[in-house]
Amino acid sequence: MVKYFKLGEGLPVVVDVLRASSTIITAIANGIVEVVPVKSKKEAFKFKKQGYLIAGERDGVKIEGFDIGNSPVELLRVIKEGSWKKLALKTTNATKLLCSLPEAYIVSTLNLEVASRKLGGKEVSLIAVGSRHGLEEDMAVVLALNKGLNGARIDYEWVKEKVVNSRAAKHLRSIGYGSDVDFIVNTSYDVLPKLEKGIIKGYN
Ligand code: MLT
Repeated sequence: MVKYFKLGEGLPVVVDVLRASSTIITAIANGIVEVVPVKSKKEAFKFKKQGYLIAGERDGVKIEGFDIGNSPVELLRVIKEGSWKKLALKTTNATKLLCSLPEAYIVSTLNLEVASRKLGGKEVSLIAVGSRHGLEEDMAVVLALNKGLNGARIDYEWVKEKVVNSRAAKHLRSIGYGSDVDFIVNTSYDVLPKLEKGIIKGYN
């Protein structure tokens, strides 16, 4: 059972760099208008029948019958090939948490800059989700965002190094998803997704 690390009290900011937050941010930045976090495979297949793209992983690997894994790189490829507008996402840790929250912002390395701009002055609770492969990459983003929210300079190179060398990154490389790690530390998007009433959309 994973224990989340939480910093502060207020509207939850969910940080799962590798990879749920990153998949959600990539989706919203590339034309997906809504992402629905789901609790079970069964629920995801119901959304598939309604025309949603379905993405999900179990210990990092794509769930059988799903369109793609919880992979921003796979997602981008599929978005380029089709005209997907809606995504249902099932992951081991982050979507479980998201399904239990009435509201939340979604942050990873991909949108750390816009998040520190847009969340400045708000009462937030920064949550490092982690997994059985550790918590260090999410902690790095939480600490960096906390600095940014307090007006200090974010050291993006330090964050990148923590993500690249995390146990979760090593695990992803060992199962063939190294391209996700590279993408997640080398891309930047100007979007801040927000969960409200079970649906994640871009927040302006
Ligand atoms: C999760 O939510 O558990 C993670 O994002 C897992 C992963 O993508 O490997």
